[in-house]
Amino acid sequence: MQSYDFFIGFELTRHCNLRCAHCMRDDLDLTANLPIEFIQSILEQATAYNKPHIAMTGGEVTLHPQFGEIIDLLVEMGYGFHFVTNGTTFPKVMQRIGPYAGGGYWKGVSISLDGATEETHDAVRGAGVFKKALNAIALCRAKGVPVTIQMVVNRLNRHEMRQMAELCTRMRVNQLFIAHMQPTPHGLRDDIVLPPEDWLKVDEEVLQLGQTFRLPIYQSAGHYDMIPLSHCKFLRNGALNIDYVGRLTVCCQLSNTGGMGDEARDVVADLNKVTLAEGHARLLDVYNDVHKARLHKMHAGGLQGMDNYHCWFCMKHFKKLNYMKNFPNHPWVKGDSEVNREVADHVKRMRAYQ
Ligand SMILES: C[S@@+](CC[C@H](N)C(=O)[O-])C[C@H]1O[C@@H](n2cnc3c(N)ncnc32)[C@H](O)[C@@H]1O
Ligand code: SF4
Ligand code: SF4
Repeated sequence: MQSYDFFIGFELTRHCNLRCAHCMRDDLDLTANLPIEFIQSILEQATAYNKPHIAMTGGEVTLHPQFGEIIDLLVEMGYGFHFVTNGTTFPKVMQRIGPYAGGGYWKGVSISLDGATEETHDAVRGAGVFKKALNAIALCRAKGVPVTIQMVVNRLNRHEMRQMAELCTRMRVNQLFIAHMQPTPHGLRDDIVLPPEDWLKVDEEVLQLGQTFRLPIYQSAGHYDMIPLSHCKFLRNGALNIDYVGRLTVCCQLSNTGGMGDEARDVVADLNKVTLAEGHARLLDVYNDVHKARLHKMHAGGLQGMDNYHCWFCMKHFKKLNYMKNFPNHPWVKGDSEVNREVADHVKRMRAYQ
């Protein structure tokens, strides 16, 4: 499966049929959908970017009432695309957009799988979802649509990473991405967010799995990274994210997290009101502020171990963590001291994989 040099991400809808234990989105009870006319207007403006790849997420993208028409539009306009899905609606999805498989524009599907067993996946995502997700993988494989599996590691599935690699190998998926569960208010309440020192161990295990399996296995954005400034595609100017009401935001990880609602500081521009060119120019300034904040902290000697979890740094920078005052004893709240001791050893071990 290809990696995309530049992509525009649309959160097609905020609607979702699941309520996953780890979900970062705050307001899934909303049913807001991006109008197709708005999407068309962005795609017209995006021709200036030389037809970038289009990535779609949500909510559950396939529940957008005009999902099929949006895919028709992308193909008519000549945009390559993929989307992230929980897999529950796939038989219907395949009926509608299956004819695009193998045609060149449909580049693949990312299917979320948060357990290698029915018991674990369904504990995270709800009863019956594992079987549907496996069926979605099988349908894609049968049609030759490349499949990426996304696993988000938390206390409920931490023990199944190797099994996940085995399952993905058996199911002949194209690649496996493993992410950390970013802290959420309900994740802390339910005690499923792993402490920072466990994240280091997970990072190491992912690298080990990558060396053991033939299947390509990668760390998703948010892992421990000593790079000083720009960790992800967004901060490297390789991606844009447009939320479910048409606002340009810093990235898809921060969008509608942390209970900030409409006051969110990661919202950069309303693309219903300003052009993509204007919004993107504003976004560059916001990215630059993140880089400068890291730069200043680094030169002042304060860029601490946990700040090398770049998404954690961003969540602090964009004030997404106000809710954490309700959990004063949680390891993420207590701070860096414990982790820094572990980091030095961890970094030495990680070098072995580079
Ligand atoms: C927000 S979902 C939207 C797409 C679709 N509904 C799904 O679940 O695949 C996109 C991806 O974000 C992941 N995700 C959700 N909450 C997360 C969290 N707290 N930390 C990291 N990733 C998370 C999901 O597991 C999924 O792979
Ligand atoms: S992770 Fe995806 S499927 Fe689960 S509740 Fe969130 S948006 Fe819905
Ligand atoms: S939170 Fe920051 S580091 Fe993480 S994906 Fe978003 S912009 Fe990148």
